[in-house]
Amino acid sequence: MQYGSGQGDPTLRSQICEVMRLEGIRAHPDDVVVTVGSQQALDLVTRVFCDPGDVVICEAPSYVGALGVFSAYECEVVHVAMDGDGLQPTALRDALQAIAAVGKRAKFLYTIPNFHNPAGVTLTAERRTQVLDLCRDSDLLVVEDNPYGLLGFDDEPIPSMRATEPEGVVYLGSFSKTFAPGFRVGWALAPHAVREKLVLAQESATLCPPTFSQLAVSAYLSGHDWHRQVKEFSRMYRDRRDAMLAALDEYFPPTATWTVPAGGFYVWVTLPPGLDSGAMLPPAVTARVAYVPGTAFYADGYGSSCLRLSYCYPPPERIREGVRRLAGVIGEELELRETFGANRPGQSRGSARPNTDLT
Ligand SMILES: Cc1ncc(COP(=O)(O)O)c(C=O)c1O
Repeated sequence: MQYGSGQGDPTLRSQICEVMRLEGIRAHPDDVVVTVGSQQALDLVTRVFCDPGDVVICEAPSYVGALGVFSAYECEVVHVAMDGDGLQPTALRDALQAIAAVGKRAKFLYTIPNFHNPAGVTLTAERRTQVLDLCRDSDLLVVEDNPYGLLGFDDEPIPSMRATEPEGVVYLGSFSKTFAPGFRVGWALAPHAVREKLVLAQESATLCPPTFSQLAVSAYLSGHDWHRQVKEFSRMYRDRRDAMLAALDEYFPPTATWTVPAGGFYVWVTLPPGLDSGAMLPPAVTARVAYVPGTAFYADGYGSSCLRLSYCYPPPERIREGVRRLAGVIGEELELRETFGANRPGQSRGSARPNTDLT
């Protein structure tokens, strides 16, 4: 229980390399920095790379916790559209050109290639290559945030972006979704020069990541069949995903659309035209069902027509009941809209359709 290494416990760093091998990554423990969840890794990477006004490219929508970090460091977020196959390379190319046209240069692309939070989609292998090619050509660093990669329902994991591009990618991992979030153990795997800066930033932030948590995670990895356990978790999440999709099919109006995740925790719903997920939240909570409104996942005010549902925690029968109640709230909102038109009280203005094609 003494202070430990600022970079993290060496045994745990070796074990982390074994975990990453499952996604095709060959890494040395020297290049791993243990962090207080991958959330702290996001903070450290942003602290190291960004000054106020710097541009960060993110998917549309993107992880709310990352957007919070980018906002805290006063970064300018440029969103890039996704569809059912993940980030659109053509949209990324256009964004890079638009940023260059105003004399700026993005600091990095922040991407969640697997079982996206909140969109639920996965970047195809073909697109990974295209995105990496574009980033290499533009000398743009990729921050690959991958807390859900091992939680796929059907296929073996697609090789991570870091596996093909060790020098151009900072990879972030976490034990929060495969073991337990309360230990707050995550990591960054970074090219050598970046790793040194991350260790310095980590030491100034915490001196060292918590020793007790690291020892607990390390003991779990060495003493248990954790890989089998992760597969068991995935089976449970698949049942919950199936329950949610079946309930959406049964209860939601045909004018709503949603993504079909092949892993992870989230379904991204696009509401029937004209509905506002922010305005709908209070009646939903009154009906004792909650979700995250879409605007939380955009830095630019978009997303009011969307919302994120999570199926990771409740058992299937509660998921079904939650979706049924939410469908009831949507039905009431549609009726109100029919009665009062678009200007009914509580409706936010503008920013309706998100800049993306997630159906
Ligand atoms: C995409 C993504 N990145 C990072 C995190 C943060 O996870 P951690 O608990 O490792 O800090 C989350 C948590 O929900 C997440 O969804």
